[in-house]
Amino acid sequence: MFDFKIAARMKAVHSDIRGPIFEEANKMTQQGIRVTKLNTGNPAAFGFELPESVRRSLMENIDKAVPYCDVKGMPDSLRAIYDYHTTKGVQGITTESIFIGNGVSEVASLAATVLFDSGDEVLIPVPSYSMWTNLAFMADAKPVLYLCDEKSDWYPDLDDIRSKITPKTKAIVIINPNNPTGAVYPREIVEGIVQIARENNLVLLADEIYDRLVMDGFVHYAAAAIGHDIPVITLNGLSKSHIICGFRCGWMVVSGPDWFTVPTIEAIQKIAAMRLCGNALTQLVIPAALEDNSSTRAMLEPGGRIYEQRRATFEALDRMVGISYVPNHASFYLFPRIDAKKYNIVSDRQFALDVLHAAHVLFVPGSGFDWPTPDHFRLVMLPEPNEISRVVSDIAKFLETYDQSAKDIVI
Ligand SMILES: Cc1ncc(COP(=O)(O)O)c(C=O)c1O
Repeated sequence: MFDFKIAARMKAVHSDIRGPIFEEANKMTQQGIRVTKLNTGNPAAFGFELPESVRRSLMENIDKAVPYCDVKGMPDSLRAIYDYHTTKGVQGITTESIFIGNGVSEVASLAATVLFDSGDEVLIPVPSYSMWTNLAFMADAKPVLYLCDEKSDWYPDLDDIRSKITPKTKAIVIINPNNPTGAVYPREIVEGIVQIARENNLVLLADEIYDRLVMDGFVHYAAAAIGHDIPVITLNGLSKSHIICGFRCGWMVVSGPDWFTVPTIEAIQKIAAMRLCGNALTQLVIPAALEDNSSTRAMLEPGGRIYEQRRATFEALDRMVGISYVPNHASFYLFPRIDAKKYNIVSDRQFALDVLHAAHVLFVPGSGFDWPTPDHFRLVMLPEPNEISRVVSDIAKFLETYDQSAKDIVI
C-alpha cells in the first residue's frame, strides 16, 4: 500500500462545533430522536427570517451576478462597505482597501495566508473561536492564547497579552463583540490592545462580525478607528446581522500605514485572484443590508427575538444551582460556568455528550473554545423563549442526579 500521509499541520486543526459530539447528535437524529442543536450560531435554522430588504435586493439585481465580478468585489458593494467603515471612524481607506469574499471565514483565511509565516506567533483570545487557532495552524504559525477574564466581564487581560509577546509575535486577534462570551469591549480595552500592537509593531486582526448585534446601550468601538496609525485588518459580514449564514457573505478592510497596506493589499489581491471572485449573488445584497439596520435593531430591543430569548435564558439559568454566568451584551452567545466540583466533572466533552444522550441538547463544551478547565460550555440562545427555557430546564433536570465520577469517560 502507498504510504500516504495527510499534511502534518492537520494534526492540530480541530473544531468541536462540528466535531464528534455533533456527529453523535446527527446519528441520534437519524434514529428519529429530536435533538436541539445549539452548536452553531445559525439564526435561520431557528426560524429567523430573511429581512425583506435583502430578499428584494437579491431578486431585483440577480442578473448582475451572472458574470464573474472583480476580484475585490462588486463596485456598489465595495462602496457600501467603505461608507460603513468610514462612518465607524476608520480613516485613510478607499474601496481598494476592501476584499469581499465567501464569509468572514474565507477572507480571514486569505489574510492568514498572506500574513503568517512558519513559526510566527499569533496572539488569540481564549476562550477562542476555533477558526482563528485553526488558521494559525494551517499557516504553520503558532497560536498563543491570551486570557479574556471572566472576573472582568470577559474583557481581555492586557497584562496577559503583554506577558506573551516574544520576538516571534506577529499579530493580535481581537474578537469584539466576542464569540463565545458575548462581551462588548469598552473603549479603554480596545485602546489598550491598540497601544500594545503599536508599541510592539504587531498587526491587529479585528473580527467584528457581531458589531451590529450590540444591546443594552453598549457601544462598539472599531479597532481600526482607534488604531488608525497601526496595521489593522477588520473582518465583518452579514451572516448573523442579516440572517444569511448560508449566503456566505463577508469582507475585510486593510487599514493603517502605507508600509503595511500596500504590500498586504497586493499580496491578498494575488491569492484572491486565484479564486477569481467572491460569490457575486451574495454581494448583491450588501448595499441594501448595510442601509437596513432596522431589521437587526428590532431583534435586539425588548420584544425582539434575540432580546427576549436572552431574557428567557437568564431567567431559566437563575433557577439553576451550580451554574453562573456573565451576562452578554451582544450576539446570542453565553459562556456559562458550571460548578465542576459539585458534579465531579473532569471532562467537559463527556459532560456535553452525557447531556446530549440524556436531555437531547447539543452544545459545545468550553474545551471546544480552548478553555483549559472543564467548567464552561457555550449556550447559543437562538431558540424561541419557551423553547430555550425548556432546554435550560432539561439541562437542570439532568444535573439533579449527575455525577461524572460514576461514569466512564469515553470521549
Ligand atoms: C467570531 C466569528 N468570526 C467569524 C465567523 C465566521 O462567519 P462567516 O459566516 O462570515 O464565515 C463566525 C461564525 O460564527 C464567528 O463567530
